Amino acid sequence: MVLPDDILQTFSMKIEWLFTGHSRESMIFTFIGIIAGVVSYLYGPYWGVRKVPGPPIIPLLGHIPLMAKYGPDVFSILAKKYGPIFRFHMGRQPIIFIADPELCREVGIKKFKDIPNRSIPSPIAASPLHQKGLFFTRMATDVIGQAAFGVNFGLSKPRSITDTSNSVDNQNNGNEVSDFINQHIYSTTQLKMDLSGSLSIILGLLVPMLQEPFRQILKRIPGTMDWKVDRNNKKLSGQLDEIVLKRTKERKFDSKDFLSLILKSKESETVVSKNVFTQDYISATAYEHLLAGSATTAFTLSSVVYLVSQHPEVEKKLLAEIDRFGPHDQMPTALDLQHKFPYIDQARPILVIKESMRFYFVSPLIARETSKEVEIGGYLLPKGTWVWLAPGVSAKDPSHFPEPDKFKPERFDPNCDEEKRRHPYALIPFGIGPRACIGQKFSLQEIKLSLIHLYRKYVFRHSPNMEKPLELEFGIVLNFKYGVKLRVINRT
Ligand code: HEM
Repeated sequence: MVLPDDILQTFSMKIEWLFTGHSRESMIFTFIGIIAGVVSYLYGPYWGVRKVPGPPIIPLLGHIPLMAKYGPDVFSILAKKYGPIFRFHMGRQPIIFIADPELCREVGIKKFKDIPNRSIPSPIAASPLHQKGLFFTRMATDVIGQAAFGVNFGLSKPRSITDTSNSVDNQNNGNEVSDFINQHIYSTTQLKMDLSGSLSIILGLLVPMLQEPFRQILKRIPGTMDWKVDRNNKKLSGQLDEIVLKRTKERKFDSKDFLSLILKSKESETVVSKNVFTQDYISATAYEHLLAGSATTAFTLSSVVYLVSQHPEVEKKLLAEIDRFGPHDQMPTALDLQHKFPYIDQARPILVIKESMRFYFVSPLIARETSKEVEIGGYLLPKGTWVWLAPGVSAKDPSHFPEPDKFKPERFDPNCDEEKRRHPYALIPFGIGPRACIGQKFSLQEIKLSLIHLYRKYVFRHSPNMEKPLELEFGIVLNFKYGVKLRVINRT
């Protein structure tokens, strides 16, 4: 392209003016300084971990395009190529991935004191609400609502039925319940591992220092995704605060829900309870339970039912075990679930749940950050390095799970060779070490009970409405992109 002479002349005059107004050397130094600053800002985090192997980096984007290309399988593919410890760049941010059970033990347990906390990734994308499948979070949200807040959201009951005094329906605000749930779903599903998020989130990935200033501006511009997210989160926290305030005023702390227990401790008026249990903290902690416990449990329950529906031989064993327990109106106690359930040693539902959790790994990445310089897998990692466990890789590794793409609950039978040979940390769907999931027992009990109740009455069959092949979505946790759709058949 040829520029007209007058434009060229003006341009060169401008440049000359730029340099003559100041000393030419100082301008050059300033220019070099700026370039060096930008380069060190963009590549500084990489420098400390450059010796860890990883694919070539695309400036600014890092390895995000690989994620778009391969989806959740990207980490298995990279582990195969680069080994059990490799470098992956989420935009500017390098992350050291650990894809091996023994190294997971090293990070999560042996060196826990040097790697005690989670790194906090910028929420990297947002997505519109997807229609949820078979159970979605209705039942799981109800259970956590009751256990964490002592509130019955009444989502898994027909609209006309209301019951306990804490029922949100009883407060005559059914719309608020669905608002609350929609906001909860939105704030959970917006966190996705791609570049479809709000502008501030994308900036957070590429140039983190710009994220907060831009968010502050964008959240004030109606219609932007930042505005929507901000409005949603404000509404959600307003509703959480209301629940907490209402429960505090009622002063009924006799129930066993999590909120009652915290409010009761607050009443004890110790220095800790006064300083720690602020209104904000209580709302946030109770919400954390809803956040951590509903999508994960709902996904797992959906996976089990979906997988069992395609494996008649597994369904047969499952039904036999459930029927053998006793009359269908006999409610198993917690103790029954743990000890008395048929095949104590080989409790089938547990095998089925475990295998489903392996097959569809709901939480395939577990974040950690080094709090000081530490050596992992032969590499010295500086303080502040993001170290993420990738347990989903081992879960599909044929050396731990032969024929990994087959759904075989019997592989977890304690008497089978495969189970005896396997590394104890080859399957860690609930994480590892002192930071492992606190809701593990709770959710397994919930899933077992739900399965018993469901399979006492129904079996599930293929539905033509379910897409093939199944599409998964890689968000803050794994999700069925279009939900799970099955035909429900009455057993009686
Ligand atoms: C199938 C269901 C669930 C799965 C697969 C799951 C998975 C996980 C995973 C992988 C972690 C990270 C662990 C680590 O960093 O090592 C975690 C942490 C956590 N989970 Fe769960 N979870 C489930 C259900 C629940 C439930 C029902 C609750 C609450 C009642 C809950 C509350 C938490 C909390 C509070 C943490 C943070 C623990 C800490 O940082 O100390 N989870 N969960």
